[in-house]
Order: sequence, then C-alpha cells, then structure tokens
Amino acid sequence: MKINKICCIGAGYVGGPTMAVIAQKCPDLTVTVVDLNQERINAWNDENTDNIPIFEPGLSEVVAETRGKNLFFSSDVEKAIEEAQVIFISVNTPTKTYGKGKGMAADLKYIELCARQIAKVAKDNKIVVEKSTLPVRTAEAIKSILDNTGNGVQFQILSNPEFLAEGTAVSDLLNPDRILIGGDQTPEGLKAINTLVDIYANWVPRDKILTTNVWSSELSKLTANAFLAQRISSINALSELCEKTGADVNEVARAIGMDSRIGPKFLKASVGFGGSCFKKDILNLVYIAKSYGLQQTADYWEQVIIMNDHQKKRFAEGIVKTLYNTVAGKKITFLGWAFKKDTNDTRESAAIYAADDLISEQAAVCVFDPKVSNKKILADLDELQTRTPDKNAQSISSFENPYEACKDAHAIAILTEWDEFTEYDWQKIYESMQKPAFVFDGRNILDKTKLQKIGFVYQGIGS
Ligand code: UDX
Ligand code: ADP
Repeated sequence: MKINKICCIGAGYVGGPTMAVIAQKCPDLTVTVVDLNQERINAWNDENTDNIPIFEPGLSEVVAETRGKNLFFSSDVEKAIEEAQVIFISVNTPTKTYGKGKGMAADLKYIELCARQIAKVAKDNKIVVEKSTLPVRTAEAIKSILDNTGNGVQFQILSNPEFLAEGTAVSDLLNPDRILIGGDQTPEGLKAINTLVDIYANWVPRDKILTTNVWSSELSKLTANAFLAQRISSINALSELCEKTGADVNEVARAIGMDSRIGPKFLKASVGFGGSCFKKDILNLVYIAKSYGLQQTADYWEQVIIMNDHQKKRFAEGIVKTLYNTVAGKKITFLGWAFKKDTNDTRESAAIYAADDLISEQAAVCVFDPKVSNKKILADLDELQTRTPDKNAQSISSFENPYEACKDAHAIAILTEWDEFTEYDWQKIYESMQKPAFVFDGRNILDKTKLQKIGFVYQGIGS
C-alpha cells in the first residue's frame, strides 16, 4: 500500500510534536492531527506559532515550516480517519479514578472511544498505531472492537510507543535512541510493520528501528519508564541518608555515574519526579503484576512511587521545620511550577504537592514560573480537592516577575530547574526578603557557596 495520508487522534504533548516532526521529515506525506478539544485545535492553528498550546524548544519553528503545507490541525475527526491509511492514537490514558483498578489501572475509555470511531468511519483497510502508553495487551482490545464492525475492513494494530521526554521532544524525535514498532508476526502484520518502518526510515537509521511482537513493545515502554523512575527514587533515597551522614549526594552521584555500568544520567537528586508518565506507568505495571498474582513484583515496583511521595513530603516538611516549625502567615515563594524545565506541562509536578502541604500549614505561597499561568496553578491545586477553590485562591498567588514574587518572602523554594533561575541577581533578591532569608533548592541548581556568601541560609537536597 502506498502511504500518502496519515492522521493522529489527540493533539497533545505526544501527538503534536511527533506529527510535526514526521511532517517535516516526510514532505510527501499529508499529516492531519485531530482533537475533540476545539480550543486546543484553534491554538495549534494560531497565526503566530509562538502561541501553539505546547511549549517545547524548537517546536514552533517546525510547525511554522510545515503547517498548511503538509501538516494540518483539525477537529473533524471522522474526515481525518476516513482519509488516512495510517492512524496514530495519541489520546490520554490517565490512571483510573473510579471502579476496579481505581488509582492504578489505566483508564482506557478515550482509547476505546477512538477505536469505536475508527470502526464506524473506516471504509478501507487501515493500520492503527498505538502511540499512547498503554498497558500490555491493549492492542487486543482495540483489535477486537475493530474486527467486529462487520463491514469487512481489515485492520492491523501496531504498538509504537513514544520515548520522547518533554522539554527535549523535538531533539528526541529528530535523534531518537531507538524507534520501537511492535506488530503481529503474521504476513499482514509484518507488512504493516514495514510500512511504519519506511516512514521513520526517512530520517532514522534503520539499525535504530527495532521491531518486535506487540506485547514486547507495549511492555518495553512501561519498563523503560519504570527503570528511569527507579533511578531517581534510588538516588533520592540516598539523598536522605546523605543529609544525616554528611555525605553530599551530588558527589555520590558523580562518583557512581562514572562507573560505565551505571552511567551518569537520571541520577540528579530532586524534590521528586513528576510528569504524566512515570507514576502512571509504574502504577500500571504494579496493577498488571497484581492481576497475575505476582505480589512481590508488584511491591518491588510500587516502592519507587512510595519513595517519590516520601521525597515530596519530606521537602515541604523540611521547610516548615527549618522555619522554626511554623510557616503560618509566612510568604514562601516557589520558583518553578512545571514538572521539569523547558515545558509548560505541570502534570504530577512535585510543586503541586509541596504547595498543598505548605498551604495546609497556612503558608502564603507565591509562585513564579516562566511558562505556567495562574489559572493553571489554581486548577492543579483544586484537582487535589484538599480544600475549596476559594480557599486555594486565597492561599496561593502567582507573579509575572520573579523579583516581585520573592519580595518580602521568608523563604524561596526551587521546584523546577529552569536555567534562568541561576542567572538572577540573587543579591537583589536577598535584600528584598525577610531575614534570615532561606533558600530550599529542590533541584540543586544554585551555587551554594555564592548564596551563602550573600547571606542566605541554603539547603539543597542531600547535601
Ligand atoms: C519520561 C521519559 O523520559 C520518556 O522517555 C517517556 O516517553 C515519557 O516519560 P518526561 O516525563 O517528559 O519523560 O520527563 P523526564 O525527563 O523523564 O523527567 C521526569 C521527571 O523526573 C521530571 O520531574 C524530572 O525533573 C525528574 N528527574 C529526572 C529527576 O528528578 N532527576 C533526574 O535525574 C532526571
Ligand atoms: P499526551 O501527553 O499523552 O499527549 P495530552 O492530554 O496532552 O496527552 O493529549 C491527549 C489529547 O487527546 C487531548 O488533547 C484530548 O483532547 C485528546 N483526545 C482524547 N480523546 C479523544 C478522542 N476520542 N478524539 C479526539 N481527541 C481526543
């Protein structure tokens, strides 16, 4: 089958950047990204590509280059499905908040809806590609919905998990460590796999394109995220021990990272990992293990999450303890709200949990984040349902200017590792604060010696 039209259902953090890069690298393909959310589609179509809904370094340039040529954003889901030969599903798969598997299993209602929509609309054979992170054997469910449409259309389901990290999505997509494609090991399945391999081969060396069966591909995605998150929880567990013993976790991380068997990446101690993937994927893995009766395997991986929750709590508790056991009425300024730098995504950000704990201690939390709006900050807090939205609005405020945000604060907490924080005039900030002036560096990005010289009381993670 000659492929000239593809579409992607879901114009989010995965679908948007992935399709933009495919469009750039495959000028002969027409790529349409659809979403039910009209507002989101309008933002993707904003005349000024700096206003697209997702902030990623380099993304607005790729969109500017391709949009209107071979990249299109639309809310007409059915038309896009009908026309495309390959359909990527890139909708959200949040953790279930109800029923069986509540708080652990992935909620597949959006995926199922997509499958039903494809089944309804498709008039000719299609390749359906799972892009969203899905629990093992989801493809089976999609297949069973698609195969029972009764209109004789043949579907091939592929799993092609996304390994891009937010904040570096464009460069991860341009230079991936590997592309993983899982499919049925039947002649038709292998043909579908090859079709997708050919798309990626436009810019990815063939030896980096791995093909497997569907289940290996689905499980590899969960496993990759579980291993990455485990490294962070491991170093964070050691950070607490460093604080007790006088070791410095940064030095320990450097020392072990130089062991080529361990390697230097993902060893940065922090206030805790966030993002839409790690917690969700590990819970998913735990749920799957439990459902097969593998209690030890489930407990082993669950500990990664337990450690992360502990690290977030410990950070807020440390602030209260250091500020003489009370933060009531004290202004505490958060620099950063996003779950990591170079993204406007705040899902599962440690900042949300730390702010919630401090507000419960009656602190007045002020926030500055270069890319996150006040509206989003309030919505994130409201989602926790710890107190009423009115009470949240009274307890937290955000500023457009970091120096304003820090004025009169008793303490500053660094929650996101934005580069610009290291370039601020810290002398000026110090002078505008209450004394003693505290800095709690939840990302270990500031120069401890320099801050102490200015007069700050500095506390990093694990040092
Ligand atoms: C992750 C995976 O990296 C990616 O491959 C997958 O497709 C989706 O999930 P992402 O969530 O975008 O990507 O960000 P990542 O860079 O992995 O960071 C996750 C969290 O861990 C962030 O909160 C980050 O600040 C934190 N982190 C990361 C640390 O605390 N220490 C580290 O050393 C690295
Ligand atoms: P991710 O980080 O996985 O990309 P996002 O939440 O950023 O997740 O994006 C998922 C997108 O999928 C959302 O914009 C949502 O509106 C969209 N979506 C969910 N279900 C459907 C559907 N059935 N049809 C079209 N779009 C959908």
